[in-house]
Amino acid sequence: MRFENKVALVTGSSQGIGAACAIRLAADGADVILNGRKLDERGEALIKQITDMGRKAHFIAADVSKAPNVVQLVNDAIAVYGQLDILVNNAGVEKNNDFWNVTEEEYDFVMDTNLKGVFFGIQAFVKYCMNEKREGVIVNMSSVHEEIVFPHFAAYCASKGGLKMLTRNLATELAHLDIRVNNVAPGAIATPINQKLLNNKEQLNSVLENIPMKKMGTPEDVAALVAFLCSDDAKYITGSTHFVDGGLTYHYEEQ
Ligand SMILES: NC(=O)c1ccc[n+]([C@@H]2O[C@H](COP(=O)([O-])OP(=O)(O)OC[C@H]3O[C@@H](n4cnc5c(N)ncnc54)[C@H](O)[C@@H]3O)[C@@H](O)[C@H]2O)c1
Repeated sequence: MRFENKVALVTGSSQGIGAACAIRLAADGADVILNGRKLDERGEALIKQITDMGRKAHFIAADVSKAPNVVQLVNDAIAVYGQLDILVNNAGVEKNNDFWNVTEEEYDFVMDTNLKGVFFGIQAFVKYCMNEKREGVIVNMSSVHEEIVFPHFAAYCASKGGLKMLTRNLATELAHLDIRVNNVAPGAIATPINQKLLNNKEQLNSVLENIPMKKMGTPEDVAALVAFLCSDDAKYITGSTHFVDGGLTYHYEEQ
């Protein structure tokens, strides 16, 4: 198993893509630290699912949008099983609003979760790797919207665009420490974040029109890519964004 004796922390893993990543990493042999703002029945079910697979799982409640909290989360995660090898920065939020109406509160909510939390979480992980002279792997959950526009989601696009450059920068700065950093950029994935879209047939059809494969992706599609990037199969891959989008990003057709 490719993650035997490895420990992975997946932020925002109670549901959606984060939960799928936790399950996939565990299926491939990792013990997993789960995270969300609080432990509820989803987190408990996930712990059971992973322990039933013969792996260890532990949930740490923390709001990653606050720098001291995400630092504490990483340090607590290291303490649970005495090591941390893989950090998947998955937690993310979005707010739909016309640009001219976006409030500072909405802006901070999105940027603090999607960018600031990732920044300081990585910093805590890197300090640990440096102190312990350990290698590390980081995957940040970005979005096709680090590249393509998304009107009425300006803060979200700014956060994922920031994540694009953070990953480029850190891959260079951390390579000599044997720390790899990559982004995964999902397209339209069927998760609770997209519930409104999934319930609106007309809007859903218009999204599917833009996707060459004419279907939404699944959280498992994303998790498979995350697991690959975390594995030694990807040991020469760092500083890039890897798309899992059914062809959405570079789609162009003439009628
Ligand atoms: N679903 C998609 O189509 C899609 C597309 C592109 C990118 N993404 C990205 O994938 C990631 C996961 O998205 P998802 O669709 O699974 O979303 P989701 O809303 O289903 O799950 C996100 C999880 O993160 C948790 N979370 C949010 N803020 C948090 C915080 N401050 N502290 C701790 N936990 C927090 C939520 O509670 C939730 O469990 C996000 O970064 C999102 O931007 C999703």
